[in-house]
Amino acid sequence: MIILKNERDVEAMRSAGLVASAVLQEVCAWITPGVTTKDIDSYAASRIKSYEGKSAFLGYRKYPCHVCLSVNEQVVHGLATNRRVQFGDIVSIDVGVVYESYIGDTARTVAVGGCDVLAQKLMDVTERSLYEGIAQAVPGNRVVDISRAIQTYVEHHGFSVVREFVGHGVGRSMHEDPQIPNYVDGKSSPKLRAGMTLAIEPMVNAGAPAVEILSDGWTVVTRDGQPSAHFEHTVLVTESEPEILTCTEKRQLRLKAG
Ligand code: MF3
Ligand code: CO
Ligand code: CO
Repeated sequence: MIILKNERDVEAMRSAGLVASAVLQEVCAWITPGVTTKDIDSYAASRIKSYEGKSAFLGYRKYPCHVCLSVNEQVVHGLATNRRVQFGDIVSIDVGVVYESYIGDTARTVAVGGCDVLAQKLMDVTERSLYEGIAQAVPGNRVVDISRAIQTYVEHHGFSVVREFVGHGVGRSMHEDPQIPNYVDGKSSPKLRAGMTLAIEPMVNAGAPAVEILSDGWTVVTRDGQPSAHFEHTVLVTESEPEILTCTEKRQLRLKAG
């Protein structure tokens, strides 16, 4: 069942989205060669707390960290460890915040200092595929229109989309209906309506789409060891343009610019 949000729900989700995006931005700016992913998680926890938010991930199905930190070939759900990030690594940071009882869910991949051309192209294509998907989040379209836009864009640029993990509705719960695959799965697909709040989140591999889970029970990695990137926004479907709830004004303008 898809839960439509009223104006009061949406106001709270705007606040939750703003907190999540502020934390994500601050964490991205803070990452520097030599810090451990545990250090990054602690910093994220302190930023979430400073806004009087709570991590939506800590304790979710016993998830042990405040944010997800996935390095290089790690796709999503990477755990904070004593690993030190190095110049040239790419790190996917996924932030989920509960604020005023609603959740903002947003992710991006950043280079630590700098990275090679392939990793940079992978990040660019993944981010742009997210905006391709968001542009389809309008009433009258179906979820599959989002999926198709992402998959088409990614594959056109020679990369592949992960099948095993998908985007989702989001609200008071982190994972609501509908599921939002990043590929066309041939299943029936719900129509989009104003008031839906969707976490759209392409996970894109430089090589093959196959993934596996490490023995820690959480960290998802590419089977072929090639890098992966992840970008995510929480988006409100409106009667007109989709509204990105997890972004600064600048990024909203970027959507309008195409
Ligand atoms: N944020 C992830 C998503 O975007 C979910 C993380 S669940 C956790 O859907 F338990 F790993 F935190
Ligand atoms: Co997320
Ligand atoms: Co999500």
